Amino acid sequence: MIYRQLGNSALEVSVLAFGAWQLGDANYWGDVSASDADAAVAAAIDGGVNLFDTAEIYGDGASEQALGKALGDRRERVLIASKVSPQHCAPADLRQSCEASLKRLGTDRIDLYQIHWPFYAEPFVDQKGNQSPGVATFAEALEELGKLKAAGKIRAIGVSNFGKNDLSAWADAGEVASNQIGYNLLFRCPEYEVIPVTRRCGASVLAYMPLMQGLLTGKYDNIDSIPKLRRRSRHFSSEREGTRHGESGCEELLMDTVHELREFAEAVGLDLATVAIAWLVMQPGVASVITGARSAAQIEHNIAAAILDLGPAANAQLNEIAFPLKERLGTNCDLWQGAADCRVK
Ligand SMILES: NC(=O)c1ccc[n+]([C@@H]2O[C@H](COP(=O)([O-])OP(=O)(O)OC[C@H]3O[C@@H](n4cnc5c(N)ncnc54)[C@H](OP(=O)(O)O)[C@@H]3O)[C@@H](O)[C@H]2O)c1
Repeated sequence: MIYRQLGNSALEVSVLAFGAWQLGDANYWGDVSASDADAAVAAAIDGGVNLFDTAEIYGDGASEQALGKALGDRRERVLIASKVSPQHCAPADLRQSCEASLKRLGTDRIDLYQIHWPFYAEPFVDQKGNQSPGVATFAEALEELGKLKAAGKIRAIGVSNFGKNDLSAWADAGEVASNQIGYNLLFRCPEYEVIPVTRRCGASVLAYMPLMQGLLTGKYDNIDSIPKLRRRSRHFSSEREGTRHGESGCEELLMDTVHELREFAEAVGLDLATVAIAWLVMQPGVASVITGARSAAQIEHNIAAAILDLGPAANAQLNEIAFPLKERLGTNCDLWQGAADCRVK
């Protein structure tokens, strides 16, 4: 395994991280039995993975609970990253959320505590008329996070889905070790602004959705075979059930890109999932790639991919294949909402 420093923090994280959403949200991902979860976590630790990511919202706490259980007495060997939901970021709520997460995880500290999505002090109404109440200023939340840190309940502070303005404002107000963002060969929007700004703030990128929820394994030959919940991003037509971006999508270009990437992988004797993970690990600013894995076999496969050096020529070729899609999706880093409602600002 390869390890990298997480931003300016004291944490050294493995380049592959274990995403535990899959362990506790059967409605979205399907069932993962306790024995499969245990085997997947054991395989990850045996392969050198030391970062495990979860959130209070995943399965309404079930992911944190399943992760805590699966880690058991192996907890001291790993780093746990969890997330507080934006509506819980007023100081008293933040403390309560943190305490509840600690309890569900069965631990006395969260190594990386992340703000799941940006929140704001002023109430606002989005373009569709949805009302959001004001929560807190970044400075107020940071002050409370500082207290949690001083009490040893959290070790480092991170954010997630923060765009250039929010990230700059957060970094001006206090500490940020990492920005967890959606980033993969089929979604390179963060390269325009978010990654450069993250690096400028001295923070690292934690890349989620490296396999585009399975599409980058090559197992779906056409759009109709993709499970409904996994085809809601801006790549897909707004006529697809569950989408909320109101855009036309780019389904043909998406599938053409997947096929071209798969052909490239086959030509170099690899599978598409391996190429997708290996490419992501070598992108500037990325400290770790968070893959959701539902079995030991999947995590073992992903570990082998993360330590593979594809080299600069392959990197350049992959960038070229994926470029038309990058250009088509533009700079909006919100995977699920259109430019007018973009939350990654
Ligand atoms: N911060 C955020 O807002 C945010 C948002 C989303 C996710 N995340 C984090 O990122 C983690 C990863 O989830 P994701 O949504 O990003 O999805 P992902 O990692 O792109 O895809 C996960 C899915 O890919 C399939 N898979 C994984 N390894 C495979 C392999 N070797 N061969 C074949 N299929 C494989 C599995 O699909 P099957 O289920 O079909 O087996 C798995 O459920 C989550 O657990 C969570 O921790 C964070």
